[in-house]
Amino acid sequence: MLKSSVHNNKIDQENQMQNGLKRINKKELGDLKIILLSEGLPVQTIGFAPISFFSITAENGAPLGWGGIEIYNDAAVLRSVVIKNALRGMGSGKKLVKALINEARDLGLKKLWLLTINAETFFSRLGFQHAIRSEAPKAIQQCEEFTWGYNDTAHCMCLKLKPACE
Ligand SMILES: CC(C)(COP(=O)(O)OP(=O)(O)OC[C@H]1O[C@@H](n2cnc3c(N)ncnc32)[C@H](O)[C@@H]1OP(=O)(O)O)[C@@H](O)C(=O)NCCC(=O)NCCS
Repeated sequence: MLKSSVHNNKIDQENQMQNGLKRINKKELGDLKIILLSEGLPVQTIGFAPISFFSITAENGAPLGWGGIEIYNDAAVLRSVVIKNALRGMGSGKKLVKALINEARDLGLKKLWLLTINAETFFSRLGFQHAIRSEAPKAIQQCEEFTWGYNDTAHCMCLKLKPACE
């Protein structure tokens, strides 16, 4: 292999592992879709909405869980955050969300919005605050996560992102 292609492969790997996350492509969404369906979470737009998906992996590369950032201008929805059932309660969820927040900050986003039914305390410990759903940007109010039926009863939360240097 040419020296330059070895170098390019290394850069590709580094780009995919930013913040301890592995960026995943559309072809790798199968396992995530299955687990989201089993949790009753929305999946219809995961293949085509403006979402960057990431997985958090074990040392051997096996995924422990996933999460996505669905971007609309300078704000985004944190969605599809899920850790494999047998691996919960070991800190992976916290690590995943912290890394997704860093990713969103690095992308220059100003706010992260989310809806959750029973993980409100989990997200509030990570800095998210209660928010009024109607105050989210219009595009976010119209995305799948915010229009999905079950979410009528979900808690809306928001995190204001500050640049890392502030
Ligand atoms: C919510 C979820 C991602 C948390 O992942 P996890 O790996 O179990 O979380 P962690 O082990 O990192 O937990 C971090 C802390 O949050 C707490 N916590 C975890 N899930 C919680 C929940 N649903 N409610 C309140 N606290 C929770 C843990 O007890 C832990 O507390 P500690 O720091 O005092 O020990 C996981 O339970 C999950 O996949 N749930 C199903 C899908 C879902 O509800 N996703 C979120 C809505 S989009």
